Amino acid sequence: MGNGIAQVAARAGYRVVMRDVEEEFLERGMKAISSSLQRDVDKERLKAEEKQAIIERINTTTGLDSMAQASFVVEAITERFEAKQEVFRALDELVQPEGILASNTSSISITKLGAATRRPDKVIGMHFMNPVPVMKLVEVIRGIATSDETLERTRGLTEKLGKTALECNDSPGFVSNRVLMPMINEAIFALHESVAPRESIDGIMKLGMNHPMGPLTLADFIGLDVCLAILNVLHEELGDPKYRPCPLLKKYVDAGWLGKKTGRGFYEY
Ligand code: CAA
Repeated sequence: MGNGIAQVAARAGYRVVMRDVEEEFLERGMKAISSSLQRDVDKERLKAEEKQAIIERINTTTGLDSMAQASFVVEAITERFEAKQEVFRALDELVQPEGILASNTSSISITKLGAATRRPDKVIGMHFMNPVPVMKLVEVIRGIATSDETLERTRGLTEKLGKTALECNDSPGFVSNRVLMPMINEAIFALHESVAPRESIDGIMKLGMNHPMGPLTLADFIGLDVCLAILNVLHEELGDPKYRPCPLLKKYVDAGWLGKKTGRGFYEY
């Protein structure tokens, strides 16, 4: 997600600093950006020199210091509250006072992330969809203290990135994952209970509902660890047993079968 966000921002003309904890992850991110842009070069929708210019607008770093001058930061780290809270605290110390701190979280409370800083009015959710260069939506989430100005600046940036901002209030899973994850979880329960094999479950939803991907393929694409983390947030925060993650999902995550990124999930890659 992080490299996708860096790519669309650089393509829109912004100078970008992409930060990760290890050089290896940054290299992988830059490779993904290069091959994603290459699709458009091959289709003659982007000139090779434009691709080069986009790539040159992205600086990579493993430190946080170069965030100091940023006017807008989008965090897209692992989906754990404590880890995000730590990053938001550090960013709050560093980033210029006018800088907005946005989170690409799929389900974690924006209000709680805002409370980790001294600028909760400038903390907002900016939830991109995967694959970021293709998907048009940015779900913009307003925490309890997020100001109107922050919301407007975020909407403005989203438009400049060529995306559509749709706003919602801070609530577990927001709208996207409150609706999507129960469907994915139900598909996993159907597999778990041998209602149908994986291909049939996916085929029924693809051909019958016109979904571009079946729910099990989509879960593999999102990452099964991410799906489990989101379902846990929905289950714990809303307290309703209907969000209980399927035991098969837990088992796959325990096995390290996290989907496309590890070569195995509900399918083999
Ligand atoms: N970078 C750039 N372009 C890409 C790309 C990438 N990484 N991946 C695909 N594309 C482009 C292709 O070049 C192609 O472009 P054109 O049609 O303009 O030529 C287009 O996207 C379609 O790609 P393909 O033909 O290769 O494959 P496809 O038709 O199967 O589409 C898909 C692929 C867009 C991923 C489609 O399967 C899809 O929309 N799947 C559902 C995705 C989805 O639901 N995402 C949301 C997940 S939830 C989430 O992200 C949030 C969360 O919190 C969990």
